[in-house]
Amino acid sequence: MNTRTSLSVSGLDDVCFADTRLSDVDGEKGRLVIAGRDVESPGDRTSFESFATALWNAGSPLSPARLADVSAQIAAGRMAAFEQLETMASALALTNGMAAVRSALSMLDETFEDPARITGAAAVFAAAWARRRAGLPAVAPDPTLGHSADLLRMLRGAPATVAEAEGLDAYLRTVSDHGMNASTFTARVVASTAADLRCAVAAAMGALEGPLHGGAPGPVLDMLDAIRSEDRAATWLEAELAAGRRIMGMGHRIYRVRDPRAAVFERAIEALANAGHRTERLALARAVERAAEGVLRARHPSRPLHANVEFYTAVLLDTLGVDRGAFTVLFATGRIAGWCAHVHEQRAHGRLVRPASRYVGDRAPSNENGDRAPSNENGDRAPSA
Ligand code: COA
Repeated sequence: MNTRTSLSVSGLDDVCFADTRLSDVDGEKGRLVIAGRDVESPGDRTSFESFATALWNAGSPLSPARLADVSAQIAAGRMAAFEQLETMASALALTNGMAAVRSALSMLDETFEDPARITGAAAVFAAAWARRRAGLPAVAPDPTLGHSADLLRMLRGAPATVAEAEGLDAYLRTVSDHGMNASTFTARVVASTAADLRCAVAAAMGALEGPLHGGAPGPVLDMLDAIRSEDRAATWLEAELAAGRRIMGMGHRIYRVRDPRAAVFERAIEALANAGHRTERLALARAVERAAEGVLRARHPSRPLHANVEFYTAVLLDTLGVDRGAFTVLFATGRIAGWCAHVHEQRAHGRLVRPASRYVGDRAPSNENGDRAPSNENGDRAPSA
C-alpha cells in the first residue's frame, strides 16, 4: 500500500448527477417536494399508495383509476409474497432485518420485476422478519386494507385503528423519496448497468442500512432512553461529543435548517396523542433536540446542525408500537417507492454510471523502448484495471 500520498475522496457534494421529476430537496429553505407534492402539506389522509402512484407516474396526471389500480397491485404483491414465505425462511431467519429483507427480495422471481409488487413484498417480508424475531408466526396480508393499515396489522397481529394507519401513511409517504441520497444513487448506479429491479433494490437496502443514512432512528430511541429526563440532556450530549461520537438524528448533508420531515412526524405524533396514544417521548425528544442544537452550535458554530428525518421517526414509529430493531426495515418499505421510480427514470434517460478517479499510486518506470519495467522484485505488474 502506498502511504506516501494521502488519499482524498469526495462526497460528490453539489455534483448534479441527473435531471429528475421525482423529488426536490431545498436545503436552504427546508422544503421537500415529492412528485409535485409538498410533504408538509400533502392534504389530510393522503395515503402511501397515492405518493407511490405519483412517483411511478411522475409527469402524468394522477387519476383515481390509476391510484386504485396501483393500490390493487401493491396488495397483490403482498399476497403473492406471502405465498413464498416458506421459500424465504432461511433469509428471514437472519438476525439483521435489512439483510433478511434484502435477501428475501433477491430471491423473488421475475414476476416481482414491478414497482408495485416488490413494494408489497417488502412490507410482507419486513413484518414476517419482525414477528419471527419476536417468536411470533407471520400474519397473512389482507388485500382489502390500505398498505399502511395492513403493514401494521401484519407487524402487530391486530388491526390498526384509522389514526394508526394515518400515522404510518404519514411516515411512509414522507420517506418515499428524497433527492439523490446515497441509497437512491446506489439504486440508479445498479440500474445503469441494466441489472434488474430486484438487484437495484437489494443494493439500495445495503446503502440505507448505514447509521449515516437510514440506520439512525433505533440509536435515537436509545439516546432518548439513556437521557431519560430533560435536565440530563446537555450533559449527556456533551459527553457523547467529547467521546468522539455523533449525535444521532442531528445534521444533514443538504439541509442547513431543520429537516421538514421532522415537522410532519411531530404532527403525526400529536394526532396519535389526540387519538389516545401515549406519547410521553415527544416532550423529551423536543427538549433533547433543543439541547442538541445548543451543544452542536457551540462545537460547530459555522455548520448549522439541526434535527433530521430520523429524530422524530424514532418517536413516531415507537408510538405506533414498532420495535426499534425494525425501524430501518420500515424506512426501506417506504423508500422502496422512490428507488423503483428512480430505476425507471434511470433506465429511460440514463447512461452507464462510470465516474473517474485520480490515480495517485506508484507507476512503474518505463525503459527507453517505452516498455514498462516489472513493478516489484517478483516481476509482478500492477493490474491494468
Ligand atoms: N453530531 C456531531 N457532529 C456532527 C454531526 C452530528 N450529528 N453531524 C455533523 N457533525 C460534524 C462533523 O463531525 C463535522 O465536524 P468536523 O468538521 O469538525 O469534522 C462537521 O459537523 C461536518 O460533518 P460532515 O461529516 O462533513 O457532514 P456530512 O454532510 O457528511 O454529514 C450526516 C451528514 C447526516 C452524515 C451527519 O450529520 C451525521 O453523521 N449525523 C448523525 C447520523 C444521522 O443522524 N444519520 C441520519 C441521516 S438522515
